[in-house]
Amino acid sequence: MSYYDTPTKLLHKGMALTITVQIGLSLFMAHPKPGTIRTSLELQLFEVHEWVGIAAALIVMAHVAYSLISTGNASWRTLFPWLTANGRARLGEELSQLGSWFSKGLPHPDDSHALASTIHGLGLLAVLLQGLTGGCIFLGMEEGTGAVSEAIHDVMELHEVTGMFIIAYLVLHVAAAIWHQKLGHDVISRIK
Ligand code: HEM
Ligand code: HEM
Repeated sequence: MSYYDTPTKLLHKGMALTITVQIGLSLFMAHPKPGTIRTSLELQLFEVHEWVGIAAALIVMAHVAYSLISTGNASWRTLFPWLTANGRARLGEELSQLGSWFSKGLPHPDDSHALASTIHGLGLLAVLLQGLTGGCIFLGMEEGTGAVSEAIHDVMELHEVTGMFIIAYLVLHVAAAIWHQKLGHDVISRIK
């Protein structure tokens, strides 16, 4: 039987696609801002970022809801091992063996998964926060002029910082997947 169940695989595909698109758009778009001139392409890309962002937020929320009810390997117990005594013990053991990554490479995910799951869980929380702050900007930004209140301005700064964290997460997450593949662990087949 596959390590991840079908709903998890579908939700993961939805997140991987929408969030990668969101990052790509964020590099070229510009949001409307009073007193600032934007090209129509920059504004159109921002509009796409708004709508793909709402879709991404809904997919992430569906994943979080599924993690709360699922007993499989996308459950909150797996993704947040530090919440249970057994998970904290496994995490401590894996952290003490980090040095062996440099001599032997990443451990096989069947033998050791608490640290990887912790990172997956943090990635999920980051994209949840990004969807929620994006939703606040969507509701709080004036259409056309881009005027925002002081509070929404602060939310935009948080969205920017979490955005950078998500970019770093995705780079490391994909690099880890490639490293596992090279070691013959075939993690791609587990989630595809
Ligand atoms: C930013 C978007 C992404 C997020 C938030 C994310 C998050 C996650 C999470 C939470 C898991 C654990 C399974 C689950 O609960 O869904 C996971 C597993 C995995 N992801 Fe991603 N992922 C993203 C993008 C990608 C991309 C683009 C790839 C392409 C290589 C990828 C490759 C994998 C693999 C191979 C696994 C399985 C690891 C294992 O065997 O445990 N992910 N990801
Ligand atoms: C999960 C969904 C979303 C993801 C992954 C995402 C991702 C990003 C990223 C990576 C950035 C660039 C941050 C940086 O400059 O380092 C960004 C910027 C931005 N996003 Fe999103 N976004 C999402 C949803 C939304 C939604 C729904 C809106 C609605 C309006 C939105 C509005 C913005 C704005 C206004 C900026 C520019 C922030 C600034 O320059 O201060 N985002 N987003």
